[in-house]
Amino acid sequence: TIRAVVRGVGHYLPERVVSNAELAQTVDTSDEWIVSRSGIERRCIAAAGQTTSDLGARAAEAALADAGWQANDLDAIILATSTADLTFPSAATMVQARIGMTRGFAFDVQAVCAGFIFALANANALIISGQAKRVMVIGAETFSRLMDWTDRGTCVLFGDGAGALLLEAVESEGTSADRGILATDLNSDGRFKDLLYVDGGTSTGVTGKLRMQGREIFRHAVEKLAQTAHTALEKAGLGSADVDWIVPHQANLRIISATAQRMQVPMERVVVTVQDHGNTSAASIPLALSVGRDRGQIKQGDLIVTEAIGGGLTWGAVVLRW
Ligand code: ACO
Repeated sequence: TIRAVVRGVGHYLPERVVSNAELAQTVDTSDEWIVSRSGIERRCIAAAGQTTSDLGARAAEAALADAGWQANDLDAIILATSTADLTFPSAATMVQARIGMTRGFAFDVQAVCAGFIFALANANALIISGQAKRVMVIGAETFSRLMDWTDRGTCVLFGDGAGALLLEAVESEGTSADRGILATDLNSDGRFKDLLYVDGGTSTGVTGKLRMQGREIFRHAVEKLAQTAHTALEKAGLGSADVDWIVPHQANLRIISATAQRMQVPMERVVVTVQDHGNTSAASIPLALSVGRDRGQIKQGDLIVTEAIGGGLTWGAVVLRW
């Protein structure tokens, strides 16, 4: 059995950190409201002119350095984003050029906050089907550009950043003790479009802003995240008791803890970065994997379940042994 095994991880955050108190100077909100509703204390905001592919390339370089790989060791880059620099080409090919990769192929995946899960499942499919041996999966976003800064119900929740993960094909035993990706579970249901969307884009001819029905999203999130995580674990022949770390999409501390509770996994086994990053959409999971590894939480051999939900709705989970 071929498994897609993690060989490196890295991240990049814009230098500018905006605290809740700073936000409250221009938005009718308070640190108390934001922290109690979301757990968010601060977020990073990209500098003027700093784009998603800039952030993605920095994360990519960090991951390559972590693995000791060169850019041309890669067969493919899959980049998850909803905030690509340009309508085309993809942010992935722009990162490819920036890091000096002159072979293989690169493309973007768009599944909003679940984008990294979808990209990871696609990378796994390329690897186990023998189409690629070394794949870099990136989540990179500049959601600050999509905010309606007059809508206090959304603009306080999001931030910018990027993370990258390197996967390599490894011949394995074919058991749940193997390192690498053990199972994936992807879902979408387009009937829920109105709950979370951007009211514009190339084909509509207007530049849009993010719109969200927060309470409805919250309700779907808690139910669907626990469900998809459970399904992915079941596909791997594992259960909640086997989990060393839940690495959830970092949207909101209340969603994260409610999901962990439903899965009967204590918060001591959940990697939480939302307080420092806010919701960075497709970047939040690779950021949490990288920060969790750097903190000494995630160690080789640990069983990780990572899960996310986003606009679409789209949702899914990946079970992997680090
Ligand atoms: N500061 C102060 N007050 C605010 C703010 C703010 N930033 N935003 C809203 N309020 C007010 C509202 O105006 C409302 O006031 P009112 O009662 O006088 O009308 C009050 O707070 C309650 O508003 P609600 O929207 O009902 O607040 P709720 O408790 O539902 O919390 C929140 C809102 C945090 C958005 C919550 O619904 C939530 O977490 N939803 C999930 C959203 C999410 O995480 N989306 C991420 C994208 S999808 C994903 O990644 C999972």
